[in-house]
Amino acid sequence: MITQDQLPMVAMPSMNDTHLEDILIINKLSKAAQNKDFDGTKGMLKELIEHTIVHFSGEEEMMREKNFPPYPIHKAEHDRVLNELTSVAKNFEEGEGDFLLITAYVDGSLAPWLVHHIETLDTVTAAFLQTS
Ligand SMILES: [Fe+2]
Ligand SMILES: [Fe+2]
Repeated sequence: MITQDQLPMVAMPSMNDTHLEDILIINKLSKAAQNKDFDGTKGMLKELIEHTIVHFSGEEEMMREKNFPPYPIHKAEHDRVLNELTSVAKNFEEGEGDFLLITAYVDGSLAPWLVHHIETLDTVTAAFLQTS
């Protein structure tokens, strides 16, 4: 669970909007897993993966357009997390509902990673894009 006031703000409003959508989906996913709702958890995992693809590729496109020098570092972090999320979703479905896997991953790994990622790489990226 990430509350709106825990969400770091960056210099680009469009990125903030995407991040807010992201935490709303993450919170719904966490809740569905806590409630042991298989279809709900599966559905929110799908929604989160789709949203994450759009979120990450949108930032990557802006970075490429403006030749942001640390692009490869930022892109590598996105790829790593998207692969991890996809594999957790696959394990959940194949394991027919390991809800503990989802709550441990979302609350213990993904949510803290997202806040840290926004505070660091996204913050630096938004500041650069805004002024270039
Ligand atoms: Fe982001
Ligand atoms: Fe990012």
